[in-house]
Amino acid sequence: MTQPTIHTQRLTLVPLANEHLEWEVELDSDPEVMRYISGQARSRAEVEVAHLRRCATSREAPGFGFWTGFAEGNFVGWWILRPPVGPDQPKVAGEAGLGYRLLSRHWRRGYASEGVRELIRYGFSDLGLNRIFGQTKEVNTASRATMVSSGLTFTRAFISAEPDESTMPGPRPGGVEYEITRTVWQERQGVLASTRLDPGKR
Ligand SMILES: CC(C)(COP(=O)(O)OP(=O)(O)OC[C@H]1O[C@@H](n2cnc3c(N)ncnc32)[C@H](O)[C@@H]1OP(=O)(O)O)[C@@H](O)C(=O)NCCC(=O)NCCS
Repeated sequence: MTQPTIHTQRLTLVPLANEHLEWEVELDSDPEVMRYISGQARSRAEVEVAHLRRCATSREAPGFGFWTGFAEGNFVGWWILRPPVGPDQPKVAGEAGLGYRLLSRHWRRGYASEGVRELIRYGFSDLGLNRIFGQTKEVNTASRATMVSSGLTFTRAFISAEPDESTMPGPRPGGVEYEITRTVWQERQGVLASTRLDPGKR
């Protein structure tokens, strides 16, 4: 299947395309956004390279890739869902990792978790995944809270084997992983549905 456009209550998530490059430049040029990623703003040339890499993701596996998110027509950020990649992510069929990066003026308004919840639904219902996980640095409180708020639970702490692109001073922080399985997600959908049918259960 090709990567679809996905709608949430407030967001339209459109497959990443070349016309979104300027938004990526704005996003990655904010040092606050990049604080736990590279530790500093990226130059335009660096973002252009990253953009090509991001676009290539959707060609690796059908239905996966980056989505650019808009709310009332305004760029908010991007979300990603892709099969495991790199030394920190064991290649297990039926699994995928998720991620997100938002403009700071849109933080703390529930957008990241709103997009993640819909990508989880899409991943389990439409792509038939068995497990979806997210990884971040242990010090990235906002990212960890986003995963918890989206229904993922802590599964492990690890020392990353990825090359360190961060310029943050001090020792490299450890990584943490959160997950949700298809079984857990389905059970919760069942509970939600029965709560809607029987308000007395609330
Ligand atoms: C991580 C990020 C995407 C969160 O986006 P967001 O839209 O602010 O997240 P949401 O508003 O959906 O918040 C989700 C939950 O996280 C909590 N949260 C968000 N930022 C937080 C922070 N700085 N400290 C503590 N909790 C935070 C929210 O309160 C919410 O919890 P709740 O549902 O229990 O109230 C955003 O901070 C970002 O783009 N950061 C820079 C890029 C980055 O680090 N990406 C992740 C790399 S792994």
